[in-house]
Amino acid sequence: MRSLIDIMDFSKEETHAVIDLALDIIAHRWKYAHACDGRKLATLFYEPSTRTRLSFTAAMMELGGNVIGFSDAKSSSVSKGETVADTVRVISAFADIIAMRHFKEGAPLVASQYASIPVINAGDGSHAHPTQTLTDLLTIRRELGRLDNFTIGFCGDLKFGRTVHSLIKALSRQTGINVVLIAPDELRLPAHLKKEICEENNIPTKEVTELEDVIADLDILYMTRVQEERFLDRDEFLRLRDRFILTPDKLENAKKDMVILHPLPRINEISRQVDKDPRAAYFRQVENGKFVRMALIMTLLGLNEKYLEEENKTEYLTSEYKCSNPVCICNSEDVDKQFYRSSEGLLRCAYCEGLVPEK
Ligand code: NCD
Repeated sequence: MRSLIDIMDFSKEETHAVIDLALDIIAHRWKYAHACDGRKLATLFYEPSTRTRLSFTAAMMELGGNVIGFSDAKSSSVSKGETVADTVRVISAFADIIAMRHFKEGAPLVASQYASIPVINAGDGSHAHPTQTLTDLLTIRRELGRLDNFTIGFCGDLKFGRTVHSLIKALSRQTGINVVLIAPDELRLPAHLKKEICEENNIPTKEVTELEDVIADLDILYMTRVQEERFLDRDEFLRLRDRFILTPDKLENAKKDMVILHPLPRINEISRQVDKDPRAAYFRQVENGKFVRMALIMTLLGLNEKYLEEENKTEYLTSEYKCSNPVCICNSEDVDKQFYRSSEGLLRCAYCEGLVPEK
């Protein structure tokens, strides 16, 4: 049984397979409408969320499944002191898969060790947010057309921003990635991440304090919110909250096809006027979040392969038709005559794939 607690729980190939499945879902929505019929997702959200929880809910509903759960720990037995371990043991009896968001770092990992169903980390403290990373990768793939060879600038709160931590990890496995870290000293990427992810993987990494100094070099600008709820010192938050504000004039020096991402919610770090700029991809990014979560739920429930196998399994028709290929085995040996409809709607012999004249 698989869970997704950290983006590195999936190999690079598995990550790409989820993105490919999401692309197929986007192209053939109808094919997946019943993929999760009769299955239940439990959304256990101990921390506020709009996009992540609702996109998980919408994802499961679009797959034909149902959703149970809570969006406020106060309304659950947690308020009576129940542990994460006990809660997920109980939920395992009711649902097929869990998406958990928790203010405590590591809570989803604990959940995965006690649940008997797959657990998805939907964000834990300042630590990790792997499903936002899948969303970001799908968006980059759709906007840029590739996942290799680009320069990405992360701007804002790189200390507490869990989406940044997970995305940098995932990008460390791609080729030709240059990272630019744009943050004030107080909000720099934690040193251990810079060392273990950027330095140990030889990723060219530059650290600056001003966006204007580097904006012209970027293929992707990943803006983030200053994470008010994580600050221990309120005055420090007030001092830093307006540090970076992306405005149309700052974009004048940026590449014409630079992609602007933001995991949202946006407070004031991107001015509303930027929304009209075709480079602003953050609302498209939200929709990608739903598709990639559909792909992830299917993958963790093991339905991707079964489903794809079923999709690919050709239904053979036995009939009075006759294969006209003299060198086909069906014309020399006693085998069941079998035919199938090709994707163009033509009747073909199952053995030689030859076209069969219809009566
Ligand atoms: C992010 C999060 O929760 O970490 N939001 C999200 O999931 N889309 C970013 C944030 O809250 O700033």
